[in-house]
Amino acid sequence: MRLIGIYGASGFGREVMPIAREQYERNGDRLVFIDDDTTRSVDRVNKHEIFTWDSFLRAGSFLGVAIAIADAPVREKLMERCTKAGVAICEIRASNAVIGDDVLIGEGSILQPFSSITSNVRIGRGFHANIYSYVAHDCIIGDFVTLAPGAKCNGNVHIHDYAYVGTGAILRQGTAENPLVVGAGAVIGMGAVVTKNVPPGETVIGNPARLLQKK
Ligand SMILES: CC(C)(COP(=O)(O)OP(=O)(O)OC[C@H]1O[C@@H](n2cnc3c(N)ncnc32)[C@H](O)[C@@H]1OP(=O)(O)O)[C@@H](O)C(=O)NCCC(=O)NCCS
Repeated sequence: MRLIGIYGASGFGREVMPIAREQYERNGDRLVFIDDDTTRSVDRVNKHEIFTWDSFLRAGSFLGVAIAIADAPVREKLMERCTKAGVAICEIRASNAVIGDDVLIGEGSILQPFSSITSNVRIGRGFHANIYSYVAHDCIIGDFVTLAPGAKCNGNVHIHDYAYVGTGAILRQGTAENPLVVGAGAVIGMGAVVTKNVPPGETVIGNPARLLQKK
């Protein structure tokens, strides 16, 4: 029997677990959570055991770990931790996630139910596509990018590393010569309609999306 760890037992981890179970739990392999919060009072969540990182490593044979943590820098740190420890990174892909032609996705992606990546798309490491989000043709997505539920990334959009696209946000399509660019670490607020490039590190909200002024 091998263990498969879902790193993170909070909201997103609990949403990922049934998808991972459908994909991996066969031949006696067993899905567990990994959570480093030692203050928790329970040893199971939704019937799955919770291990700390150290107890997971001690548990013996494992297939790998999927990092179900929305925070991109934390996700990157945990992926490095796995790599250093020689633990494989698992992909999670819902059986109804759609992937078109000529799509390349880096390691550690999680594609939740009803997410779609259409055709001729490049995506970096640690990508999360939450339920009902999509990435359309000719998009180029960096490392550790997160699409929240229902985020709509239309064609020829470039999203740089660590950017976060909130629930239901819509990104206007670009063109091959003039893609719409979301800068590194930018945050697109839920429901925003993004019609212009978003500078790195900035947060935008509204329709049309404007910079959120920091108070
Ligand atoms: C945009 C966002 C990052 C701003 O968060 P924040 O920096 O903590 O900002 P605050 O909540 O303090 O809000 C600041 C102001 O912007 C408004 N605001 C916040 N988010 C907004 C949004 N998405 N659209 C329009 N207005 C928004 C608030 O009402 C507040 O207005 P006020 O100053 O008039 O009271 C956040 O609200 C957001 O949209 N996050 C994405 C959430 C999401 O998609 N979650 C998915 C979970 S799976």
